[in-house]
Order: sequence, then structure tokens, then C-alpha cells
Amino acid sequence: MSIIIKTESEIEKMRVAGQLAADVLEMLGPHVVPGVTTNELDRICHDFIVNVQNAIPAPLNYKGFPKSICTSVNQQICHGIPNDKKLKPGDIVNVDITVIKDNYHGDTSKMFCVGDVSPFAKRLVKVTQEAMYRGIEQVKPGARLGDIGHAIQKHAESNRYSVVREFCGHGIGKKFHEEPQVLHYGKTGTGEVLDAGMIITIEPMINLGKHHVKVLADGWTAVTKDHSLSAQWEHTVLVTPGGYEILTLRQEER
Ligand code: MF3
Ligand code: CO
Ligand code: CO
Repeated sequence: MSIIIKTESEIEKMRVAGQLAADVLEMLGPHVVPGVTTNELDRICHDFIVNVQNAIPAPLNYKGFPKSICTSVNQQICHGIPNDKKLKPGDIVNVDITVIKDNYHGDTSKMFCVGDVSPFAKRLVKVTQEAMYRGIEQVKPGARLGDIGHAIQKHAESNRYSVVREFCGHGIGKKFHEEPQVLHYGKTGTGEVLDAGMIITIEPMINLGKHHVKVLADGWTAVTKDHSLSAQWEHTVLVTPGGYEILTLRQEER
């Protein structure tokens, strides 16, 4: 049980990997339109990561995952497997990108709205992104993991949404998933203490209905048990002496 403190040269490599992952999401944006299939999005990302970035798509063959990205549509919470079904107007889709560059991982995801999306879906997407930022804002040396979870849970539940319990953020570096587990719910002043040089992901999954999860027969796709919509956003975050640095920031967030 120990959280790795990265050296300055490791942090520099994590900055590079994080920026590449962010670049994939920026590149992909114009392609997420009605009629495209998630397999087509997978192919576009795979080819960009491999041929343009000279990097590796971490999900491919990770514990048997068959594709290069995760695409989770509507009531799918996370780990959706790209397929040949076309996206349609009104869909909300999470695309989760993890790249490996120079042995280090960058992990980030965002929600895309396909065509015109209902106001209640848009609101879920917006509040979930806000919840992620509320969590990130807690990050600084001396803060505890429970502070992050509490900030996220408070924002989600005060908007009458629920926080998924079965999946969490994680330490990240040479390994895709390192210690600690970063829960998206919890109590202030509890859990492990953060220190400068730690790198974690914060990736809340928020449901419009109840928090319960079901995993489909494919062994990967997690969906809401009550078939309600779900949203997720993810960043890779470095703990700095003064607070935090988001390693996977996109232009639209600057
Ligand atoms: N990118 C996911 C995360 O944020 C993990 C995906 S594992 C996979 O931790 F095998 F489904 F790709
Ligand atoms: Co992650
Ligand atoms: Co991810």
C-alpha cells in the first residue's frame, strides 16, 4: 500500500502522454456526428495514436479488452466496446482515451452530444463535468482522497443524481492502474493524504437515476441497472506543491 511519487523526469513524460491523450479527443470531435459508428471512431483513434503520435492505445488487449478506445453511449456507464451501431441524434457518448508514450500513460475522457440532445441529458453532462472539476479543485498536498470524493458526491447528489460506486479513479504512471483507488464519494478528512509528485485520475460516473450497475454478458460494458442515462468525464491530475496540474487539458478548457 503505497502511492508512487514521480520524479521530475517521470512527470515530464506524463505531461507528454497526457497531452497526447487530450489531443486524441480534440482530433476526434468533428467525427462524432449522427450516422458514424463507434467502430469507425475506434479506427480513427487507433490510426491517429499509432501512426501520427507514434504511441500505443492502452486499452487494446488490456485484460482482454478488444478495442483501442472505450465508447459508452446513453445508459452505458463505462467500458463500452465500440461496435457497428450508428450514433443517432440525441445520443450522449463518453469516449475514453488512454495512450502510452515512452512507457507512461495518459488517461482522459469526455462526453460528446450527438446532434440535438434533450435538455435533461445536457444537464447531466454539464453537472458531471462540474463534479469532476469540484473534485480536481480539492487536489493539493495534505488534502485527503475523501475530500475529492465528498466534493464530487455533494455536487452530484445536490442535483438529484447518483454516483456510481463500482468504478473509481486511480493512480497512473508506468502502469495503467496504480494505487490509490480514487473513490468519487466519501467523507471529508478521510482516506489517504496527497503529496506533491503523485498522479491520479479523477473520473466520476454520474447517473440520472439510481447508482446501481450491471455488467453486460460481454464482460466489459457497465450499464445502469435502471436504464437511466449516465455520464462521465476524466482527467489525469498531478499533485503540485501549490495544488494541482491537469495533464490532459484540452484547448476548449484553457
Ligand atoms: N480508461 C479506463 C479508465 O479510465 C479504463 C479502461 S480499461 C479497458 O480507467 F480495458 F476497458 F480499456
Ligand atoms: Co482512468
Ligand atoms: Co479512462
